[in-house]
Amino acid sequence: MAGETVGELLSRAAARLSDAALADPALEAELLLANYLETDRGGLMVRKGEPFPEELLPLVRDAVERRAGREPLQYITGRQEFYGRDFLVDSRVLIPRPETEQLVDLGLALLPSGAAAAADLGTGSGCIAVTLAAERPDLQIDAVDRSREALAVAADNAERHQVEDRLRLHRYDMADLPRSWAGRFDLVVSNPPYVSETEWSGLAVEVRDHEPRQALVPEGGAALMYAGLAATAFRTLKQHGGMVLELGHDSAGAALEAAGSAGFEDVAVHPDFQGIRRMLVARKGMRT
Ligand SMILES: C[S@@+](CC[C@H](N)C(=O)[O-])C[C@H]1O[C@@H](n2cnc3c(N)ncnc32)[C@H](O)[C@@H]1O
Repeated sequence: MAGETVGELLSRAAARLSDAALADPALEAELLLANYLETDRGGLMVRKGEPFPEELLPLVRDAVERRAGREPLQYITGRQEFYGRDFLVDSRVLIPRPETEQLVDLGLALLPSGAAAAADLGTGSGCIAVTLAAERPDLQIDAVDRSREALAVAADNAERHQVEDRLRLHRYDMADLPRSWAGRFDLVVSNPPYVSETEWSGLAVEVRDHEPRQALVPEGGAALMYAGLAATAFRTLKQHGGMVLELGHDSAGAALEAAGSAGFEDVAVHPDFQGIRRMLVARKGMRT
């Protein structure tokens, strides 16, 4: 409605999202309006009594309807924060999850000091590869995805965070990397698809109907995928290089077996902040 204040529009948006049975409609309405007013929730509160700019009304109306239709907020605003940086996201890529920040920490801890080389298999938005490169200015990183659309998003994020000169993007299947990559990396990281068909059908509508299925569900199942991934990582790592893999809620056993069969000797599974065994860390060859 023309002539509405920010506060009035906020109430109307929250009511629409409440009708759509969203869990936290007031918060989501605030985040949506703040996005279009290019402010944060604090800034929004200060402007509650101001008239809402009329030219932005159609955008907000559209955004509220998209959210009421269960499209993830991040695809509507086009962004997600990851490791303190702002990443561009849309329906071509998985929305980076906070637990994946732990994978970055574990990966950084495995890197040797000085110049180093890393690979990110299944890079999606590029959140892991870009973060590693941004945190370690002496790191060269090869990021792989078989989705052309995802690689386009990763390229935008690499440029956004000014690491494009050290991050090479490749359209490969992670099970079929070039022979010349053998023994090349100090670190291989991956947050692969690991959701089973059964789990997928029970996921929230936001995830199941909007995020790319190929980013969530591995062909042939998680055990096969971890086996291929561990074998690939072992082949492409230097001696004493490290691997970090994100795990599904019940994948730890399969991933441990895969790492052992691939030849890794020094293998551990780390719990996430909820105590779920979510990150596998392995080294190629024991360190003396
Ligand atoms: C779970 S998403 C992870 C994306 C991003 N790394 C993150 O952590 O948010 C998995 C990614 O792997 C890609 N992918 C799935 N199977 C693949 C394969 N066999 N080879 C290469 N990429 C694959 C998907 O396209 C998707 O972008």
